[in-house]
Amino acid sequence: TREDALAQIAAAQDLGTLETLRVGFLGKQGSISGLLKTLGAMSAEERQSTGPQIHALREAVTEALAQRKAALEDAALDARLASEVVDLTLPAPETPRGSIHPVSQVMDELAEIFADMGFAVATGPEIEDDWHNFTALNMPETHPARAMHDTFYFPDKDGEGREMLLRTHTSPVQIRAMIAVVKDNPGGAPLRIIAPGRVYRSDSDATHTPMFHQVEGLVIDRGITLGHLKWTLETFLKAYFEREDIVLRLRPSYFPFTEPSVEVDVGFALLNGKRVLGGSGDAPGHGWMELLGSGMVNRKVIAAGGLDPDEWQGFAFGVGVDRLAMLKYGMDDLRAFFDGDLRWNAHYGFNP
Ligand code: PHE
Repeated sequence: TREDALAQIAAAQDLGTLETLRVGFLGKQGSISGLLKTLGAMSAEERQSTGPQIHALREAVTEALAQRKAALEDAALDARLASEVVDLTLPAPETPRGSIHPVSQVMDELAEIFADMGFAVATGPEIEDDWHNFTALNMPETHPARAMHDTFYFPDKDGEGREMLLRTHTSPVQIRAMIAVVKDNPGGAPLRIIAPGRVYRSDSDATHTPMFHQVEGLVIDRGITLGHLKWTLETFLKAYFEREDIVLRLRPSYFPFTEPSVEVDVGFALLNGKRVLGGSGDAPGHGWMELLGSGMVNRKVIAAGGLDPDEWQGFAFGVGVDRLAMLKYGMDDLRAFFDGDLRWNAHYGFNP
């Protein structure tokens, strides 16, 4: 009966039961569907009186099913909301925080210091050819310094028949920067760049890793002298070490790509057995530490860069970035730089 059907629907406690009831009443084989089918066999009068009753029953049941369904869904949502409460007082899970590697930090510091002196940052490929890495830098094939560099060579030559290698220093960027400036500007220089990056030598112990970092510096202009080099290095090192008392000593040296060449030492004091930069290395209890190589750019190198050495002069220097980081931040084993131990990174790392 109608009351039975409505009572059953009202009593359904879940959507599954409700669906079973719906199929039982209104499905293809359902009881109400069955009643509707009997209409066809009825006489016209019978149908006129019974038809509306059956249709009314179907409507009432359909309506009751929809209402019950909405009520059950509301209740289910209420229950879910009650069970899924977010406790805002719980501590948030900790997300590990990355930090900048000391080498990247130092390269950023150098770029900033040199930017203040008007230097742009230049780059070159780590996979170089032997012309840029050696020949153009006045190290022809037979030059003994080629052997001194313990070069990693590739088995195959490039398309132009040049030997390919991992660059052994950032000096090939000197050549690339000069060629680029001549191309952009047929008059050529002036040029003021630093070139930070990775370099490679087949060498490994506590103070040497097969990959390490250098920053090259190059200035090309008219009338450049060793005095400009000395002032630039002093200004840079005072800013980098954040000490006004940095004292440099320039020692005659030899590099094929500079003439004259100078090796630059920095004075330090021994305090409790530790080297602290600052002051003249000649003072009692002090000493000199070798820091970098530099010199006036060799005429042959200026010519290899496509510039006229009678018009343009310059100085260049190359310094180890890892070395600079160790000296400023007090690390003692170079290999730890590249072990990828996150505890070391976190200890020496710099928050971004
Ligand atoms: N390229 C040299 C080296 O790797 C350093 C250097 C650069 C020296 C520029 C002089 C001028 O040792």
